[in-house]
Amino acid sequence: MQITLKTTDRPEQLRSGCLVLGVPARSALTGTAAAVDKATGGLVTQLRERGDLETALGKTLMLPVPAGLKAERLLLISLGEQEHACSDADFRKLVQATLSALGDARVADAHWLLPELTVADRDPAWQLQQLATLCVQKSYSYTATVSKPKPAFSLRKLSIDAGATSASALRAAIQRGVAIGNGINAARRLGDLPPNICTPSLLAKEARSLARAGARSGTAKAGTKGRAGSKLKVSVLDEKAMKELGMGALLAVAAGTAEPARLIVMEYSGGKRGQQPQVLVGKGITFDSGGISIKPGPKMDEMKFDMCGAASVIGTMTTVLELQLPINVVGIIAATENLPSGTATKPGDVVTSMSGQTIEILNTDAEGRLVLCDALTYASRFKPAAVIDIATLTGACVVALGKHASGLYSNQDDFAQELLEAGQRAGDRAWQMPLWDDYQKQLDSNFADMANIGGPSGGSITAACFLARFTRDYRWAHLDIAGTAWDEGAAKGATGRPVALLSEYLLAKAG
Ligand code: BES
Ligand code: MN
Ligand code: ZN
Repeated sequence: MQITLKTTDRPEQLRSGCLVLGVPARSALTGTAAAVDKATGGLVTQLRERGDLETALGKTLMLPVPAGLKAERLLLISLGEQEHACSDADFRKLVQATLSALGDARVADAHWLLPELTVADRDPAWQLQQLATLCVQKSYSYTATVSKPKPAFSLRKLSIDAGATSASALRAAIQRGVAIGNGINAARRLGDLPPNICTPSLLAKEARSLARAGARSGTAKAGTKGRAGSKLKVSVLDEKAMKELGMGALLAVAAGTAEPARLIVMEYSGGKRGQQPQVLVGKGITFDSGGISIKPGPKMDEMKFDMCGAASVIGTMTTVLELQLPINVVGIIAATENLPSGTATKPGDVVTSMSGQTIEILNTDAEGRLVLCDALTYASRFKPAAVIDIATLTGACVVALGKHASGLYSNQDDFAQELLEAGQRAGDRAWQMPLWDDYQKQLDSNFADMANIGGPSGGSITAACFLARFTRDYRWAHLDIAGTAWDEGAAKGATGRPVALLSEYLLAKAG
């Protein structure tokens, strides 16, 4: 997908597969809209007045052979009743409706007249970044294991008229948007892969190949030889190394599967040497059967998505690398399967985590917190500026927030605020949940320092409380993405969330 800027006050002269024009429900046509209307002999006005273009925001009308224009098609898109200044959500809806209409008509190149649109409290750069991300997301299709994949999104080239705003700022916005879209799609691709392909070793391989790709682009950019190559270094710990580190909680989850566990460490150094890194820790359960506390059959296949936290770490790294952000970022992925077998961990087993704290495993299906607690202890060695873990952690979070917001917990309220705002900007929202001490006693155990489950009430909260016991010595936040990481039903598939939120946060850190 090639997205460029092109400004013109004579849109009727533009040669393109399709001219895209926003049309307000009632107010007078101005600027480029008026120019198109005039060139087509008042066609736009006529279609609006006759009701052929419905007035609800996002309704589209594709005109295949518009007389008076050099473009092959004209796509009208209704801006709705509120006229100008629409909301973030309205803007995204407009963009998605437009992209769908272009895709349905198999348009390969289009020119979009954007100046007729204002989004409340957002500048044109925000619009272009969003638009670019949505375009790239639309280009995603799953192909890995289907013989005849559905035709991919037809659009190859999009030029955008964004009015008379500074071109360099807008170009940078497009670049950011594309990079975020690529990160999202990388996460979706990994999330969608079947669990017999997407194993812990595959995740390690993907991380390594990202480092190699980074080396190639890094060298090309720097034009230098040798060490200048990649800013991304990847190392992978096997079970022996984990054992030496005392990662008894992570290894307890891995005990039931023949598939070897991996702790994947990705170190991106774009900032000054010694600058404290932002650390992302992803839950990478490549299949969660529940273990001995086995899950019921229906929808168990969806537990292939239990590595979407890990995928979001790789996806965000993809974005960071593409944008060469001037900060240090560490990605840590705790990857294993959770299966029952003769060697599997049993309810009642007590294990010792890397932190030295002991855990009574009362339910082997509460495995995410077990792999994360050791990864979070490991994160300390990077002297982090902040740590964010991302996990499809609890069904309870889906009950609480549904599939629209990720659950956010933090041991520092100002940090939570930063992440909430990043999510707002990105259209990838989170909602803060309480991490009060009141909930901690639900984790009491008679046989260990804590139990791995906190009973039926407040399940997402007690899971976060468990993690909080391993993150006391740094600035920490936890994103429970159990509801947001994938869609179900006909549109079943990974969403790539919360790559956009994380990328926005890191962009803000990069200044
Ligand atoms: N991966 C699941 C959480 C999950 C379930 C995410 C459904 C999305 C949809 C997690 O490992 C799990 O099984 N959690 C248990 C915890 C319980 C045993 C305390 C849960 O939510 O039921
Ligand atoms: Mn589980
Ligand atoms: Zn799980």
